[in-house]
Amino acid sequence: MKAIAIFPERRAVELIEAPAPRLASPTDVCVRILDVGICGTDKELCAFKYGTPPPGNDHLVIGHESLGEVVEVGPAVTRVAIGDLVVPMVRRPCPHAECLACAAGRQDFCSTGDYTERGIKGRHGFMTESVVDDERWMNPLPRALRGVGVLVEPLTIAEKALVQVRLVQQRLPWARAARGAAASGQRAVVLGAGPVGLLGAMALVAAGFETFVYSLGGAASPRARIARDIGVTFVEAEAVEVAALPERVGAIDVVYEATGASRLSFDVLAVLGANGVFVFTGVPGRRAPVEVDTDLLMRNLVLKNQVVLGSVNASRADFEAAIRDLAIFQSRWPEALGALLTGRVPIDDGTELLRDPPAGAIKNVIAVS
Ligand code: BGC
Repeated sequence: MKAIAIFPERRAVELIEAPAPRLASPTDVCVRILDVGICGTDKELCAFKYGTPPPGNDHLVIGHESLGEVVEVGPAVTRVAIGDLVVPMVRRPCPHAECLACAAGRQDFCSTGDYTERGIKGRHGFMTESVVDDERWMNPLPRALRGVGVLVEPLTIAEKALVQVRLVQQRLPWARAARGAAASGQRAVVLGAGPVGLLGAMALVAAGFETFVYSLGGAASPRARIARDIGVTFVEAEAVEVAALPERVGAIDVVYEATGASRLSFDVLAVLGANGVFVFTGVPGRRAPVEVDTDLLMRNLVLKNQVVLGSVNASRADFEAAIRDLAIFQSRWPEALGALLTGRVPIDDGTELLRDPPAGAIKNVIAVS
C-alpha cells in the first residue's frame, strides 16, 4: 500500500510501501482514502519543524485533511455502513484520567498535551490508500459533497472558532448572535486568504457577519475574486495599512486570524473594536522576538472589554457543523467553493507537490483513489 511519509531524522519526504491495516476491534472500520488536502501544517511537517512519528517509528505518514469511503466494518459498527463517505477526525484523547476535557470527548481542549493527532503527532495519517480506525472518529458525508468533502477538516477550524465567539458574546445580552441568531450588524475581519481564511469567511458570511478579508495578493488575484463572489470585501494589505483598517471597515467586532503571522496579528489586535473578540488559529514558526506596544494592547483590552482567544482542532459537533455548512456553501457559492481546490495530483506525484507547490495555489489535493 502506498503512503507518503516524513523521516524527521533523515530529513526526507518519501513515497513508501506500508502494510495494509486490518480491523482490530468490533467497532473498527476500514476506509479507502479518496482525497487528502495539503495545508500549512503539512508544509511545516515537510520542513521538519513540526510533527512526531508514532512511538518506535522512524517515520510519520502525514495527511490529516481527508475524505474516504467505508469499505469494511466490524461486527459491532452502527454509525456508518459500507459505501458511506466519511471524514475522519484528527485528534485522539490523551490517556490520563485526570484530563476532564479528553474524558468528556473534547480532546480538542486536552489539558495535558499528551493527545495524539493522525498525520501530525504520534499517529500515522491519511496520505495512504486505506486506514482503519474506530467508527467513533468517522463523520458521514452526503454523496452530493463528494467533490468538496476534503474541505470539511479545514472548515472545522472556523466552526470551532465561531462557537467560541458566540460563547464569548453571550456576555453581551444585546448581541443577537449570542443567542444563535444571525450576527447581522456585526463586522468580522479575516486575516489571510488561504483555505482556512476563505472557508472562515464563508462561515462568517453564512452566520450573518459583514465580512472583510485582509490579505496580500492583490485585488485581481483568484483569492480576491473568491472573496468578492461570496459577498466579502477584499482589503488589499499592500494598499491599506493596519492602522487604517477601522476607517476602511468600521468598528471591528471579530477578528478571525488565519495567517500564522504573529506580527501582523498583534498589529491588528491594536485596532480591534470595543467588546471585540480576536481569535487566533495560526501556528507560527519560531522567529526572532519582535517588539509590541504592550501598554497600548493592555489599555485597549481593559478599556474596551476585549477578549483574545486561541482555538485549535475541533470536536465532533464542529465536524457536523462543517458538513452542514459545506452543503450551504455549495448551494450558495458553487463556483467560489470549487475555486478553492486549485490542484489535484495522484499519490505518486504527491511528494513533488509537497516539495514544490505551484505559486498561487489555494488548496492542493492528493487524489489517492
Ligand atoms: C489541524 C488541526 C491540528 C493542528 C495542530 C491543524 O493543521 O487542522 O487538526 O489540531 O493543526 O496540530
